[in-house]
Amino acid sequence: MQIKYNSKPDKTKRKRAMNISIVGTGYVGLVSGTCFADLGVNVTCVDRDSQKINRLVYGAIPIYEPGLDNMINRNVNDKRLTFSSDYKKGFIDQDFVFCAIDTTASEDGSTDLGPILEIAKDFGENITRYSVFVIKSTVPVGTAQHVTKIINETLEERGARNIKFDVASNPDFLTEGNGIKDFMKPDRIVIGTETVSARQAMERLYRTILMHNNRTVIYTDTRTAEMIKYAATSMLATRVSFMNEIANLCEIVGADINIVRHGVGSDSRIGPKYIFPGCGYGGTLFPQDINDLIKIGSEHNFDMEILKAVENVNNRQKRILFKKLYNYFKGDLAGKTVALWGLSFKPETDDMTAAPAIDTINLLMDAGCNVRVYDPVAMNATKRRWSNVYCGLDMYDAVKGADAVLLLTEWRQFRIPAWHDVKKLMKTPLIIDGRNVYDGAELEDMGFTYYCIGR
Ligand SMILES: NC(=O)c1ccc[n+]([C@@H]2O[C@H](COP(=O)([O-])OP(=O)(O)OC[C@H]3O[C@@H](n4cnc5c(N)ncnc54)[C@H](O)[C@@H]3O)[C@@H](O)[C@H]2O)c1
Repeated sequence: MQIKYNSKPDKTKRKRAMNISIVGTGYVGLVSGTCFADLGVNVTCVDRDSQKINRLVYGAIPIYEPGLDNMINRNVNDKRLTFSSDYKKGFIDQDFVFCAIDTTASEDGSTDLGPILEIAKDFGENITRYSVFVIKSTVPVGTAQHVTKIINETLEERGARNIKFDVASNPDFLTEGNGIKDFMKPDRIVIGTETVSARQAMERLYRTILMHNNRTVIYTDTRTAEMIKYAATSMLATRVSFMNEIANLCEIVGADINIVRHGVGSDSRIGPKYIFPGCGYGGTLFPQDINDLIKIGSEHNFDMEILKAVENVNNRQKRILFKKLYNYFKGDLAGKTVALWGLSFKPETDDMTAAPAIDTINLLMDAGCNVRVYDPVAMNATKRRWSNVYCGLDMYDAVKGADAVLLLTEWRQFRIPAWHDVKKLMKTPLIIDGRNVYDGAELEDMGFTYYCIGR
């Protein structure tokens, strides 16, 4: 996405406002940084990827997030938001330095804390006055204390023991596609600190959001804050996998998962969210956090049995649309043309990380199918990944000559297709609905064969 700033990005900061730098200008860093700027804070977004920063300086927004382009434009023009790849400079004269980088796994599967500890070291080497190092990345329990030790050692080596600092854990609960709303109106803000000064600084920072929204803030120690993040993500993923397993059983015993879901979700102790059956979850968040928590357990000789099952059920679920297709054609898939609607792991994002579409496309290609796809925003990632997948000009172009249409992501524009046109364009009128959004009876009346999940 390309936007045009009214003025040239300017590095002059406004006087007296708080200064924040955010290291890691990905989903979390860019959304949080832009939202903080919109609340009147001077924000420098820093990233080691200088190309990404250069593109941002010239108005190219690296992610799709509804409303973000306008907000970036406004804050760059108002000189509250700047971008830099010189991140050591980003530590000078800052009230807060947020760490929002992505964490990757080391060879043994545990989270590689190396990059975060490097940033902590740079922070210790460069700060010139009291500053708070805030960990927004999802990190193993105990990381904030590790970071504190590194900064203390670095200041000691510098002979700058007189410079005070604090470390806070402020895990992020942003959901891609709802990032701005999640930041401005969060369900809760979790603030983990070990000192009174850190807690007071964080209170000051979040005052604007809290003032207007009457939101819940959970003040705790850093270890508990780190654990809350993992536990929350794991609970959501567990609900999804649990309902997918119930859906699969519904199919076998002849029950209807949509009504089961309604019956279960109307229980006020359970609630309706994250119990929709489908073709599996993806994204960076669920798979990585679950993997991390399983690993944290095993490092302490504790077997996270439920989470292992959650992961296994999800891996199986990502293959379910292919399995339905395979059964329908009795394994005779070579040469069949299959159209996919939706590629991103959920609507309103271009993120295809661990998306069910990836497994599905790979299985289809291995089976010798011709694959045609359409997604409103994730087409570029698809073109880069598979040269032999046909990327449709629109959702109708994608279904031309198809023996089946598989719905993987419930983007709004797929909700009410012009079915008569779809049927005319397809070779075999077979719809496999991975998100249970269509009315099967209506489609069957129009002459389609329809499959979904759990009915
Ligand atoms: N994306 C989400 O929905 C989400 C939600 C909540 C929490 N989180 C967590 O937040 C963290 C960031 O996630 P994300 O989705 O924004 O990641 P991302 O991959 O979109 O962005 C990370 C950015 O950090 C940069 N980076 C990496 N190492 C760096 C370094 N050493 N110095 C400077 N920049 C560096 C990368 O170039 C990249 O631009 C992760 O720990 C993630 O688990 C993500």
